[in-house]
Amino acid sequence: MSKPKVLVVGTILWAKKELQQLSSIATVISPDFSSREGFLKDVSQNHTDAFALLVTNGSKAGAFDRSVLGSLPKGLKYICCNGAGYDWIDVNAAFERGISVSHTPGAVDHGTATTALYLLLAAYRQFSYAEKNAREGRFLQDFPLAHDPEGKTIGIVGMGGIGKALARRVLPLGMKIIYHNRKPVSPEPDFPAEYKSSLDELLAEADVVSIHIPLNEYTKNSFGSAQFDKMKQGSVLINTARGGVIDQEALIKALESGKLYSAGLDVFPNEPEIDERLRKNDKITILPHVGTHTLESRYGMEMVVINNIRSAINDGQLLNQVPEQKGRK
Ligand SMILES: *[C@@H]1O[C@H](CO)[C@@H](O)[C@H](O)[C@H]1NC(C)=O
Ligand SMILES: *[C@@H]1O[C@H](CO)[C@@H](O)[C@H](O)[C@H]1NC(C)=O
Repeated sequence: MSKPKVLVVGTILWAKKELQQLSSIATVISPDFSSREGFLKDVSQNHTDAFALLVTNGSKAGAFDRSVLGSLPKGLKYICCNGAGYDWIDVNAAFERGISVSHTPGAVDHGTATTALYLLLAAYRQFSYAEKNAREGRFLQDFPLAHDPEGKTIGIVGMGGIGKALARRVLPLGMKIIYHNRKPVSPEPDFPAEYKSSLDELLAEADVVSIHIPLNEYTKNSFGSAQFDKMKQGSVLINTARGGVIDQEALIKALESGKLYSAGLDVFPNEPEIDERLRKNDKITILPHVGTHTLESRYGMEMVVINNIRSAINDGQLLNQVPEQKGRK
């Protein structure tokens, strides 16, 4: 029997050895193409027998929408995505085609949670503005007193792997942790955390809100003026998830009105563009989406995606199928 064919769409940069080892159980091919059309043409001419795709977002194949998924070979069973976020692939359309999709949760927990912690500290202590102040030789001129995060209440929206990793990082600061999910975390977290069944209740109680939810049709712009209105006066917002989950105009308004004392943002709705009103705001900290921009995160993600391919070949199932597909028939 011939080995199943796996196409690598995009580039594996770090786990090269592990990708090579995959050859013992699969025929691994890295198609060379320079456009979405080129990719689809190559697949339909040369790889109609493909069993699985290993896909890196940002490859020249572009987004995997309904039309791209519709042109993939009938026998294709798996698409393993290199990334925790997978808003560039239509997982429902894939499901309808009989394609199971995996992502790489877990591998990004540390990198993203550390980024959220940094943003939280920077927002409360105004460290970005302080650094600017020092670099410009002003040494505390026009630098009002900031705030301590110690003893404040953090509201974690989405207590998954990243939310938990952030919770563990803020506990030593003596912060109180409340969180909102559709359901309480089970098994219960191994740290003190109070579940709020309503987001509004969390927003009313939290001094700092940190967002850890995926971007999809339900969450797009879901954090808007109604949510900012419910937050405490002078609170802080942290976003390391996806820019698109927040209504950016509402955010800018909340910053301008003083509803928010500060914010820490690693993600933006139209990356790589960042709205000028955010770029010019000295009271907030902005980063160019560095959450998983570490060697450890990137290598870990590539390992997870390769392990999903292995599991698909050896056991006929994915280790990290996306939640939208799990349990669906
Ligand atoms: C299909 O494979 C052949 C042989 O490797 C190659 O020359 C051709 O360019 C491929 N087709 C496409 C559309 O890439
Ligand atoms: C996928 O890549 C595009 C283009 O590089 C980028 O805008 C988008 O945020 C990426 N999505 C994810 C989930 O990484």
